[in-house]
Amino acid sequence: MTPERVRHGASIGQPATRRDGEAKVTGAARYTADFRPDGMLHAVMAVSTIAKGRITHLDVAAARAHPGVEAVMIPENAPKLAKSPDEKDNPFAFRLNLLQNDEVRYANQPIAVVIATTLEAATEGAALLSPRYAPETPHVGLDSGKPFVPGTIGAGSATSEGIGDVAAGMDAAEARITATYDTAAQYHNALEPHSTVAKWDGDRLTLYTPTQALWVAKGRLAGLFGIPPENIHIVSHYLGGGFGSKGFLSSPQILGIMAAKLVGRPVKLVTRREQMFGPVGHRAETRQTMTLGARRDGSLTAYHHHTLTQTSSYDDFFEPSGIISRHLYASPAIATTHEGVRGDIGTPIFMRAPGEASGSVAVESALDELAHELGIDPLDLRLKNYAEVEPITGKPFSSKALRECYAQGAERFGWSRRPLAPRQMRDGDGLLVGWGVGTATYPAGMFQGEARATIRDDGTALIETAAHDMGQGAWTVLAQIAADGTGLPMERIDLRIGESNLPNGGLAGGSTGTATSGMAVYNAAKAAVAQLADLATNDPDSPLYGAGNAGFTAADGRLARQDDPSRSESFSEILARAGRSSVEAKGQGAGDPAAQKTYAMHAHGAVYAEVKVDPDLGQIRVTRLVGAFAAGRVVNPRLVRSQYYGGMIWGVSLALHEHAVMDRRSGRIMNASLADYHVPVNADIPSAEAILVEEHDPHVNALGIKGVGELGIVGTAGAIANAVWHATGIRVRQIPITLDKLL
Ligand code: MOS
Repeated sequence: MTPERVRHGASIGQPATRRDGEAKVTGAARYTADFRPDGMLHAVMAVSTIAKGRITHLDVAAARAHPGVEAVMIPENAPKLAKSPDEKDNPFAFRLNLLQNDEVRYANQPIAVVIATTLEAATEGAALLSPRYAPETPHVGLDSGKPFVPGTIGAGSATSEGIGDVAAGMDAAEARITATYDTAAQYHNALEPHSTVAKWDGDRLTLYTPTQALWVAKGRLAGLFGIPPENIHIVSHYLGGGFGSKGFLSSPQILGIMAAKLVGRPVKLVTRREQMFGPVGHRAETRQTMTLGARRDGSLTAYHHHTLTQTSSYDDFFEPSGIISRHLYASPAIATTHEGVRGDIGTPIFMRAPGEASGSVAVESALDELAHELGIDPLDLRLKNYAEVEPITGKPFSSKALRECYAQGAERFGWSRRPLAPRQMRDGDGLLVGWGVGTATYPAGMFQGEARATIRDDGTALIETAAHDMGQGAWTVLAQIAADGTGLPMERIDLRIGESNLPNGGLAGGSTGTATSGMAVYNAAKAAVAQLADLATNDPDSPLYGAGNAGFTAADGRLARQDDPSRSESFSEILARAGRSSVEAKGQGAGDPAAQKTYAMHAHGAVYAEVKVDPDLGQIRVTRLVGAFAAGRVVNPRLVRSQYYGGMIWGVSLALHEHAVMDRRSGRIMNASLADYHVPVNADIPSAEAILVEEHDPHVNALGIKGVGELGIVGTAGAIANAVWHATGIRVRQIPITLDKLL
């Protein structure tokens, strides 16, 4: 019988608390840096204080002489790699800095690793290296080089895409806006820094390191070290945040492995907070020019989103800020174009909603400027240009409940009471009050994943897939999906994820994790249940004998006939009589290429923000945030809401706080610490609400799951920028909006 005939229970959709919560709050959950193999040494990186040039001298003798120092790894003695770290054998193999030469390509680049018996000794040894350099003049910033058109942007999208004739559309327009918005560079600052605990046994490697892509990491290491992937076992049960910077192994993580090889003992290397500003990626700064034309009624006639961004001197990653404009608003003429400049900086990479986050600030700000020009309510302008089909491709959406998001958010927020003109509202303390809206959109994608389900005769199921929990709740939602897939209560699900020797779970990136590994788990579970059904229906002693065409319900560890639920049998009974201890099956998680060809697949949302601005001091507070989001099936409302809160809070951070300040002369980041690099704290977020808007998507996958990890940040920063304008009448086009820009 086919698994499709098996109907399942209802764990999906329940607000289960985190299964790993107790382990985390009691400290039982071991993050990768918590592992301590016998004989482990500590490694500390020394990083460059110049942005370009060569290292001419390191005082290795002084470091070596320090008590406790066992070795100093520099280009002369660093293990030779089987493959150059600059070789791009796949588009996600970002170039690394692994001490293969004395070249410096950016400030904070690793230049040596000191290995010692204690962390303190290694730290002191690294300080004693006193590097000398042959420096060259670094070029950093968007004005530092000649712009060029990159081959691809982001994860390989086209640089330029559009429809219609923008120039003709501008000619036909009755209102026009051209405005340029700058967004600052942001550096990933996950609570858990990038760490490695590495242990070699001959040519076999055991590695504890956080990663959002276990199988990709395994493949990269196999190439670099010239060993078969099956010789590598990566453990990554918990991540203290990833946000894209743990998508692909960074230089510090691999230097820890090389250090262990050099000394022939296990080594731990943890990236220091200030060392995160360079070698582990960042969100590149952008300068985006929006050119919009519209008729008096607000309908767009032309829409051009141009992005200038910076990448490194030695690799290619271009922040794809314009992609959002291919999916969001309807216009007869749309152009999205990108240019890059090179700089002496670490290579930017993916950061939560790469492209959409930075892009939406410009898009949503420009829409508001147009609304003001036209004298139209900003929400009405968005509804006027609502895309009924995907604007660039003309494809129908697989599902799109954005109208409901706008409406439910507006209702909850009280948007209808918003005065059209700016600077009209004050609170009791005389603070200026402003309201803004922004639209969220993010693609609903899937990678390829696989899972294995084993239903055991003790009434439990073992579910295995190399999925990743960055904090988003994979430990919980995959167990929920497995519970419904097997028809077992969640507490009978023995879930194993976070290890590279499990079936490939895809990657936790691009908001694809739950859809990909979840579908793999679901399909594996269903296939295992189908085997049980086969055993029962072919067994004359089973109450289900001969019921192969009737269809079954699997619930509470029992299989029952759909047409006669009184005829049922427990999984354990079926296995016992068949003389089996278990049944085992594999399942795949991947998108349906035919559906993907036919439909545009995106999640959507609407974010409303209230700010209060001190008219004398310029101080800005986001006093209310209401987001309404539609992303297909909600596997766990508690955790999905938590994802939206996290996204929206990062939107506050993008709008008002985060800004890596680069000294243009030295190429160094001046605020490379959490004391100086500002992110929101609880006091910055007095109120955030996330409304889960119902949406059923029959096309994205069998469970109807879209992604929720990145959606919340999109639209939020624009909503805040618009609220600041509405409060003050001042349009700030340099993001983040800091108080000095209002004075
Ligand atoms: Mo996300 S930036 O794809 O981890």
